[in-house]
Amino acid sequence: MILSIESSCDDSAIAITDIATKNVIFHQKISQESEHSVYGGVVPELASRLHAVALPRILALTKEYFPKLKAIAVTNEPGLGVTLMEGIAMAKTLSFALNIPLIAVHHLKAHIYSLFIEKESLLPLVVLLVSGGHTQIVRVKSFDDMEILATTMDDSVGESFDKCAKMMGLGYPGGAIIESLAKDGDCSKYALPVPLANSPLIAFSLSGLKNAVRLLIESLGGANMSHQDKCDVAASFQNTVLLHLLQKSKKLLTKEPIKNIAIVGGVAANQYIKIGYEKLCNSLGKKLHTVELRYCSDNAAMVGRYAIELYNNQIFTNQIDLQANTTQKHKNNTKL
Ligand code: KG4
Ligand code: ZN
Repeated sequence: MILSIESSCDDSAIAITDIATKNVIFHQKISQESEHSVYGGVVPELASRLHAVALPRILALTKEYFPKLKAIAVTNEPGLGVTLMEGIAMAKTLSFALNIPLIAVHHLKAHIYSLFIEKESLLPLVVLLVSGGHTQIVRVKSFDDMEILATTMDDSVGESFDKCAKMMGLGYPGGAIIESLAKDGDCSKYALPVPLANSPLIAFSLSGLKNAVRLLIESLGGANMSHQDKCDVAASFQNTVLLHLLQKSKKLLTKEPIKNIAIVGGVAANQYIKIGYEKLCNSLGKKLHTVELRYCSDNAAMVGRYAIELYNNQIFTNQIDLQANTTQKHKNNTKL
């Protein structure tokens, strides 16, 4: 079994995964959403302190599996430095004390492998990765051959949902709040600009849309606007984000021979976006694969699942070299 730890942002999670069957034997996550909600976003120092309390609490529940552990896996990049360090310190200590190898897991690759939790991998795939920190389309040929085909030039999709909610005086994280308000809203009430609509670029951009939403919200009275206005703004915003994702994805997927497409990351929990993306895939003769709802947002089961690939290829790291990398460093910037 592999014990995996996730602490790249505001979720403390630990999983135990059976290497041979890929079954998740144990998974527990403690989210810090309510603690960060009052600030409208994640406060890194607070997140780090909360991990220092939550991770040992979860670890205490996994003791019975210790004799069966073959490796310790931990997210080491990308993420918040001070929160990654909490998971890494725990992983190093466990690997040293139990005398078993250490596996460093890339958070975005783990999100992609959330598709294969308790399943064999299905490759090649083209993946739309939409999270709080990233927005990318990635061509995945194998666990160590992933190419970034498109990326955001500024904010991520998840971040734009969070900011839209914050501007309307709603809590954090904003994604699920916006999705739920949008159900009672009219998505054609406000015309918002679809980003890069007339540009041939196959890239994403959310900052212009965020500014347009800010001006709209201000014109409606800010956080004091009526509940119905909030629903209409949420629906208009969500629909514009979907149109942007669809326009750019269509350009890319039309030329892409790979038939299997997937959507992963925290925003993949959004049903409206998922259904819209599925329609696009169907119209292009592609098949959309999705992640189980509980594994869309950050979790340790996906870290464990990706770690199985590294374990089977004997790709380990040592105590000294394992560091928290907050940015993505590439020899070639299209390689994930
Ligand atoms: O993948 P994730 O848990 O963390 C990162 O790796 O960033 O993604 C978190 C992001 C947040 O921005 C959150 O607002 C967004 O995913 N999110 C959603 C929904 N649920 C979570 N965005 C849109 N609709 C949702 N239902
Ligand atoms: Zn994530």
